[in-house]
Amino acid sequence: MKRSKVRLDKLLSSLGYCTRKEVAILLREGIITHTLDLYLKSDTKVSHDEILCEGEPLDPPAGMVILMHKPIGYVCSHDDGEGRLVYDLLPERWRLRDPKISTVGRLDKDTSGLLLLTDDGALLHRLTSPKHKVPKVYEATLDRPLSGNEAEIFASGTLMLNGEKTPCLPAKLEVIDPTHVKLEIVEGRYHQVRRMFAAVGNHVTALHRSTFETLELGDLKVGEYRLIDKDSF
Ligand code: URA
Repeated sequence: MKRSKVRLDKLLSSLGYCTRKEVAILLREGIITHTLDLYLKSDTKVSHDEILCEGEPLDPPAGMVILMHKPIGYVCSHDDGEGRLVYDLLPERWRLRDPKISTVGRLDKDTSGLLLLTDDGALLHRLTSPKHKVPKVYEATLDRPLSGNEAEIFASGTLMLNGEKTPCLPAKLEVIDPTHVKLEIVEGRYHQVRRMFAAVGNHVTALHRSTFETLELGDLKVGEYRLIDKDSF
């Protein structure tokens, strides 16, 4: 894609490499260079693909989508006070990017699985808006065996969660065995899967998200991530 040119200091600070002022130092030290060895100053107008950092292409430009295999014990928050953050699994400088990278919705600290992150506000809105009804599949382990009517209750569109004013939209339950299920939901209410099972007298002891829309984890290991194309879903 042909990208417009921006000042070098603006480009590098937006990607989290340094502050605008520090660009001069990186140029002086030969850390930042031009692919054709052209002379660069902080205010030179450049395009993203013309610039190298220590001889390597720059991190991807704005418009990133990251597919992560979230481990248990990591929090979907920007607040360092909350413990280990999913952002700790990404390169450190990505925390300084502008636009900022955020999670697409949240997974609980105790939930593992497919987590998307992006710096694209419009995409974030589309994927989290209740209007868009994005399907997500969760694999849950239950404390007690199913009683038998859960699939019907979840599919009915009448299940009320504690403290909420509207019922859950219909959800599809697939029974693997009496204490293991897959549940497809199209909403993203707070602790939704755990609360749906609590509403039918059960308790989720382990939760893992295996799909998000058409996306799957594939062979991505726990704690790893890969960049995906915005147009792939
Ligand atoms: N539902 C939950 O209860 N927890 C999650 O992390 C996601 C969906």
